[in-house]
Amino acid sequence: MLFGKRKNVDKEAIAEKIIVALDVDTEEEAYELVRRLSPPLTYFKVGMRLFVSSGPRIISGLKNMGVRVFLDLKFHDIPNTVASTAAVVTRLGVDMFNIHLSGGREMIEATVKATVAEAEKAQREVPLLIGVTVLSSFNDQMLRNEVGVERRLEHHVEQLAAMGQECGLSGVVASPREAAMLRKKFGEEFAIVTAGVRPLWASLGDQLRVSTPRQALEAGASYLVIGRPILDHSSPREAAEKIIAEAGK
Ligand code: C5P
Repeated sequence: MLFGKRKNVDKEAIAEKIIVALDVDTEEEAYELVRRLSPPLTYFKVGMRLFVSSGPRIISGLKNMGVRVFLDLKFHDIPNTVASTAAVVTRLGVDMFNIHLSGGREMIEATVKATVAEAEKAQREVPLLIGVTVLSSFNDQMLRNEVGVERRLEHHVEQLAAMGQECGLSGVVASPREAAMLRKKFGEEFAIVTAGVRPLWASLGDQLRVSTPRQALEAGASYLVIGRPILDHSSPREAAEKIIAEAGK
């Protein structure tokens, strides 16, 4: 009996760490997915595809369904543009959003400042502000040959994350392959959001630096962003339950 209870607690704890990428074209499809998956899943990501099609209304729609929302628009522009956009995003009431760390120190600091100030003004909780390190669709060769970054990918991720932490970010988005290094270097409070999470039975798609859900959690990931392994499954609900069960084994 006790064992059974323990297992449920573990499952709940795992479900809370999974963020489903609502990578669909319409609001209706997104709401239908949330209805199918929640509970047990309670955290959903709105990326550029859904946001461009549905606009900010999708955020209030999801919040009204009682779920947490990660707005994944990966802002990267001059400091003033990103900081003032961050204030608007904070007013929307998202739980998490992100910027590209390669936007540099001034952009990050201005964005942190604007986010905290706007949350205070609107008397809202400060959303988790997360920095994108290197997308999980990149590998070492691409980073060097196509973007011109000479240092090793893992070192580049570490240096970007260090700058983000110094500037006051709550955490980073990284591949699960870098999660253990990041956890060790930046401590327990730093949020590590991993994309490129693939159960063994799912196909890689365009993701190159992948790990299974269990490996990502063991490496210290705070959150696992999962899209196609759930969305492309004939039963998204079944896929989600399988992922939760496998991650806890
Ligand atoms: O379908 P898949 O599981 O690959 O979806 C991953 C999601 O996470 C996508 O919405 C993608 O835009 C996003 N993402 C990513 N890598 C990052 C940040 C976000 O794949 N570094």
